[in-house]
Amino acid sequence: MDQAERLRNVIKQKRKGMQQKVARVVTITSGKGGVGKSNLAVNMAIWRSKMGKKVVIIDADLGLANVEVMFGTVPKYNLSDLIYQGRNIQEIITKGPLEIGFVSGGLGIAGMNNLSKDQIVYLVHSLGELNKMADVIIIDTGAGISDSVLEFVLASPEVILVSTPEPSSLTDAYSLLKAVFRNPIFSKKKTKVNIVANKVHSAEEGEAVFTKLNSVVSQFLKGDINFLGIVPQDPELDKAVRGQKIVSVEKPHAPASRAFQVLASNYINDEHEAVVLHKGIAQLIINFLARKSN
Ligand SMILES: Nc1ncnc2c1ncn2[C@@H]1O[C@H](COP(=O)(O)OP(=O)(O)OP(=O)(O)O)[C@@H](O)[C@H]1O
Ligand SMILES: [Mg+2]
Repeated sequence: MDQAERLRNVIKQKRKGMQQKVARVVTITSGKGGVGKSNLAVNMAIWRSKMGKKVVIIDADLGLANVEVMFGTVPKYNLSDLIYQGRNIQEIITKGPLEIGFVSGGLGIAGMNNLSKDQIVYLVHSLGELNKMADVIIIDTGAGISDSVLEFVLASPEVILVSTPEPSSLTDAYSLLKAVFRNPIFSKKKTKVNIVANKVHSAEEGEAVFTKLNSVVSQFLKGDINFLGIVPQDPELDKAVRGQKIVSVEKPHAPASRAFQVLASNYINDEHEAVVLHKGIAQLIINFLARKSN
């Protein structure tokens, strides 16, 4: 039995025992690296948590452990330990500030090409457990159009693409959008793509980031993207990161922190749509594995 077939069996079983509550899942990504994805993940988590939501962040970045550093926690185990060493989901979650849960993907995500049926069942079941622990699951990815990132984006019900106003960031954001919208499995109905403009010097500059991307997406890709908002260039954010701190915790009134607060509430106000999109983490991972095994 190949992985695709094993997955079909798992999906059948999963459908029979569908859980009631499904946490909302959003994947944060970018074309170019270093544009502020991990800061967005962590700071939105802080504000959502202050708004009474239970949040879990999954670090799916294989590179630098950005979230770990900002949280000041070094997880003992990661997703590989769950898949290959039989650790359970409780053991691989670390608690950060405001009880925000954190799961490190480790090398687990890169190596998901050829799992046994038992491993798939266990992984899907374990990640499904997160629905009980979280209202919102934020997946922080690396940058670029690497296969894993693209597959995560394609498997996600909601995506936040971060771009700065720099021409190279915009070009790379557009390349990623092109790869997503032109992919045969991409469905406009099933994935909502949001844009956040980071490191902007004015509201107008932020809106221009969206307008530029939106015009090429609608003209050449016949797609729709949604403007979630902006984050200003803020020396306080930079300072916080250098001190391995989180700006929204250290300086909640700094311009960037306030912007993250607005983004978090914009996102929460979209709740009714999330119900329509209704694909949880278990479904995401099934989609992701299905892509990897094709
Ligand atoms: N709004 C901002 N104002 C000032 N500096 C910022 C802002 N956003 C990000 N930065 C700077 O950019 C750096 C990269 O941010 P971050 O680690 O969040 O990006 P990333 O997209 O996750 O990077 P990677 O692609 O490496 O994972 C931060 O260390 C910070 O110094
Ligand atoms: Mg990062």
